Amino acid sequence: MTHQLDTAAVHAGREDLTALGLHVPSIDLSTTYPLPDLDAGGHAYEVLATGQRPEAGAASLVYQRLWNPNVDRFERGMAALEGMPEAVAFATGMAALTATLLACVSAGTPHVVAVRPLYGGSDHILATGLLGTEVSFVTADQVASAITDRTGLVILETPGNPTLDLVDIAAVVEQSGSVPVLVDNTFATPILQRPGQHGATLVMHSATKYLGGHGDQLGGVLVTDAGWAARLRQVRALTGGLLHPMAAYALHRGLQTLAVRVRAQQQNAQALAEWFLGHEGIAGVRYPGLPGQDPHGLIGRQMSGAGSILAIQVEGGYAAASTVLTALRLVVHAVSLGGVDTLAQHPASLTHRPVADSAKPGQDLLRISVGLEDLADLQADFDQALRAVRR
Ligand SMILES: Cc1ncc(COP(=O)(O)O)c(C=O)c1O
Repeated sequence: MTHQLDTAAVHAGREDLTALGLHVPSIDLSTTYPLPDLDAGGHAYEVLATGQRPEAGAASLVYQRLWNPNVDRFERGMAALEGMPEAVAFATGMAALTATLLACVSAGTPHVVAVRPLYGGSDHILATGLLGTEVSFVTADQVASAITDRTGLVILETPGNPTLDLVDIAAVVEQSGSVPVLVDNTFATPILQRPGQHGATLVMHSATKYLGGHGDQLGGVLVTDAGWAARLRQVRALTGGLLHPMAAYALHRGLQTLAVRVRAQQQNAQALAEWFLGHEGIAGVRYPGLPGQDPHGLIGRQMSGAGSILAIQVEGGYAAASTVLTALRLVVHAVSLGGVDTLAQHPASLTHRPVADSAKPGQDLLRISVGLEDLADLQADFDQALRAVRR
């Protein structure tokens, strides 16, 4: 039975618990599993090391790097939320991207078409060619012309990090033809946007962000079809980027409150973005929920809301941005995003530091991940921090 999104968030990956006599999943920390006999053990190893799921009644799960039940539960939850067949979870978002790029290289299609802006780490791993990929950085309307017969992947982020630009996923999918499109859905989460419905083959998350939601777990996940999932599990088994079972447990629990957190944080972000618009010391506000910032009409068609990340441009450039960050008292000056507390950071110096100068965010730009605090307290803190610039 398929459920509505809010119901899936609470129950997906837990369907068997009642029959097991459990209300919450047990945490399985086994690094290795007893093997009943050599033939059965060898067969189970073969199945898992080649990226297949364990067979029904499998003799053994063999070894944690090959399979873990808590990771499987989190993956089933994510597959249900994204409305796609399978998910494969990794130690971090970057490990998830690494596995995808290695899969492309090993398939003999090492060329990646990347729509900028991307998270600085994703941009950096592509720009360096560290994993044997070649990259063409493009704008969303240049994808078709960049594709060659060596292209194995098109990658995009929407909303983009850190400018909050929205990309029309279906339009990029159409330009990509048979080349799979990966959408980094970290900012939107499946609560606001399900890229699979618009033709994306792979949906990626830094689970470190909204999925966990409390800033205390690292993780990454790719949601995709069965064929890609098997390839990615094989890469994961070989390269060792499995999500830790404790993190898998916590991320799976995080999904249960994802919908309410995302919607409440979004409400705060919309109000804060509007408040910043008229504020002294602010040269610009970037938030897809503001008038004129969704030129292709994607909110309502592709996204059900604008999310809870925004960026402000501070009058006075780097020096003023630095003063604001130091003056903040409630809002935490830190990288990362998507947690219940509000964080602010300077992308040009931090998350996007390795990005080429031509594509680097402006020195006046601060990215804000809006949390669940009372709006008035957030406004008061930003107000006093902005006043510090004028002092
Ligand atoms: C949009 C986006 N994608 C990917 C990543 C990388 O994820 P992780 O830090 O979990 O490796 C991040 C991290 O900030 C991100 O913001």
